[in-house]
Amino acid sequence: KRILVLISGSGSNLQAILDHFSGKIAAEVVGVISNKADAYGLVRAREAGVATSILAQQQFASREEYDAALLALMREYQPDLVVLAGFMRILSGDLVRHFAGRMINIHPSLLPKYQGLHTHQRAIDAGDEEHGASVHFVTEELDGGPVILQACVPIFAGDTAEEVAARVQVQEHSIYPLVVQWFCDGRLQMQQASVLLDGKPL
Ligand code: GRF
Repeated sequence: KRILVLISGSGSNLQAILDHFSGKIAAEVVGVISNKADAYGLVRAREAGVATSILAQQQFASREEYDAALLALMREYQPDLVVLAGFMRILSGDLVRHFAGRMINIHPSLLPKYQGLHTHQRAIDAGDEEHGASVHFVTEELDGGPVILQACVPIFAGDTAEEVAARVQVQEHSIYPLVVQWFCDGRLQMQQASVLLDGKPL
């Protein structure tokens, strides 16, 4: 299976996936696309010998034009699965529909709680004692596609958003490669708005 990863930043989730699939032949990361030229994840990809592309939004007048170019670039990699790993752009409906059931994202909250940004601070401000991350199929509804797997972490009194984020990231690095593995093993399917694992609802 051919895995294409989209990033904007540090790429620690990308690293976890690269590490998980290194030396395996049934599935491999065939490319990494970043919308930021200085994303550290690009360094990680190059060090792993993975092809990289940069598509900066400044070159395009509108989201539609950017997404049309992005879709064309993504198709060159012929991915079986598209993995959004800290890709900080909202994707247009056309692009999302093109990869329906073949594109997943990781979001740093226990969805459906805290869609959007600043999730750690929002969880702290709400007085939550529990927080986490969710891997979900991408649909046209932002952070709204069917959830595949979640990991929970505690929030302790006095925690900063950075401390909570670090705790969540440790969990992200174990659940994301696992979900990618399930998909590549043909075990995971999106059916309308729900998820099947081994043909059964999760
Ligand atoms: C992760 O926390 C992920 O949940 C969010 O963006 C962050 C990406 O981190 N969508 P990294 O680039 O994988 O280190």
